[in-house]
Amino acid sequence: MNGIEIEKVLIPQNRLQQRVSELAVEISADYRDKDLAIVAILKGSFIFAADLLRAITVGATIDFMSISSYANQPQSGVVRITKDLEESITGRNVLLVEDIIDTGLTANYLLRVMRERNPASLRVCALLDKSARRIIDLPVAYRGFEIPDVFVVGYGMDYQQRYRNLPHIAVLTGESLR
Ligand code: PRP
Repeated sequence: MNGIEIEKVLIPQNRLQQRVSELAVEISADYRDKDLAIVAILKGSFIFAADLLRAITVGATIDFMSISSYANQPQSGVVRITKDLEESITGRNVLLVEDIIDTGLTANYLLRVMRERNPASLRVCALLDKSARRIIDLPVAYRGFEIPDVFVVGYGMDYQQRYRNLPHIAVLTGESLR
């Protein structure tokens, strides 16, 4: 497909499952006796969030938010909410769940939006952290894996809406990727 191909498996399925379990243990301990509201950012995080939620042993709710960057200024950090949360997060302990943090612009914007709604606490959980590309520094309380600056797909992540169904994280190569 246009010279695009899967180069290699970066994180196999069993390592993903193991790491998700470890994150869930950590989160369950930290949020014991707390009102945990998981906010998953669509679409990329839907598989990670589902596995994480299943592995969490404390009571938690899940809600979804969908955003898109303004097409003509993707690096500006200006994004538009295309689907907002259905429940209030005021006074709740919010955990923002992302598949990947790259420049940090998206998560930074979302943190700002959520902070305005006065949650009791607000933290970020990201499966993948591509910190070499960070433009805006932000605290990632729960991080699955640090990854190099490569184009990844699978386990919810896409290239032109494809590959989200891969059970592992793979590296994609091809001239049109950047
Ligand atoms: C990805 C990911 C984050 C964002 C991270 O979403 O899910 O939301 O990019 O990038 P940043 O740190 O540079 O802002 P994407 O735009 O690919 O949409 P999708 O989740 O619907 O696939």
